[in-house]
Amino acid sequence: MEASSLLAPIAKRLQGKVALITGGASGIGESTARLFARHGAKVVIADLQSELGPSVAEKICSESGESVSYVHCNVTNESDVENAVNTAVSSHGKLDIMFNNAGTTGKPYYTILSTEHEDFRRVFDVNVYGGFLAAKHASRVMIPEKKGCILFTASVTSAMYGGAYAYAASKHAVVGLTKNLAVELGQYGLRVNCISPGALPTGLTTSAAMDPTQVQKWFAAMSNLKGPILNANDVAEAALYLASDDSKYVTGFNLLV
Ligand SMILES: NC(=O)c1ccc[n+]([C@@H]2O[C@H](COP(=O)([O-])OP(=O)(O)OC[C@H]3O[C@@H](n4cnc5c(N)ncnc54)[C@H](O)[C@@H]3O)[C@@H](O)[C@H]2O)c1
Repeated sequence: MEASSLLAPIAKRLQGKVALITGGASGIGESTARLFARHGAKVVIADLQSELGPSVAEKICSESGESVSYVHCNVTNESDVENAVNTAVSSHGKLDIMFNNAGTTGKPYYTILSTEHEDFRRVFDVNVYGGFLAAKHASRVMIPEKKGCILFTASVTSAMYGGAYAYAASKHAVVGLTKNLAVELGQYGLRVNCISPGALPTGLTTSAAMDPTQVQKWFAAMSNLKGPILNANDVAEAALYLASDDSKYVTGFNLLV
């Protein structure tokens, strides 16, 4: 993004809100942290990456002038998740937006016979159990306030078939978690939604040994919409919509991007 466009005045859609973003040190989480801060939110990035996380937080803070901080958190560890939520509340007095975005692909096993139990379990641990823990601890502080927004990152894999087993099943589970939470938490005024991006080049796709340009070409070829190329900021814009009051009557929704 051009430095000049960062300085251009914008209508701030998250003014005064506090957001906690798991997996916020890179990729979709980092783009969302940047966009949320531009829109006036105070952001806490929760991630495993203890070297990258604080520097990303500092950079976004200096670009936006908003409070952006980092807390170390492995989403598969309940006390880390509890601490991340408590850190957001003790630093800023409340939590308005919990974005459960941390995720992993696991190994690209496309046949049931080659899929390994351990890999399956590890992917579920991060993508599903991690999201469940973050939703649970966010609910703990949001329910008494009778407001709040919980978001998940699933994947287009949640709406199509033929992908790696652990990843596909975990992302379907994330959508199930979203919808179940939306039913229960609606009575407290909490909204719960999910974003399902198509493939885009991030650390995740690189770690799955996918070439970034190939990822874009491959997804562009299978996408209905021709012309624009999907990037992390497009996903952040979807998160902004679902986190803001623009979507105040939207809950239990899986938004495919
Ligand atoms: N990139 C894609 O093509 C794509 C497509 C659809 C969905 N997604 C989903 O988007 C989300 C973000 O991924 P990304 O593409 O930005 O990749 P990324 O690798 O750039 O970001 C993932 C972040 O999650 C963090 N993370 C991983 N395991 C963690 C853990 N146990 N605890 C805390 N943090 C952890 C990583 O450190 C990293 O910062 C994931 O849930 C992923 O499944 C990505």
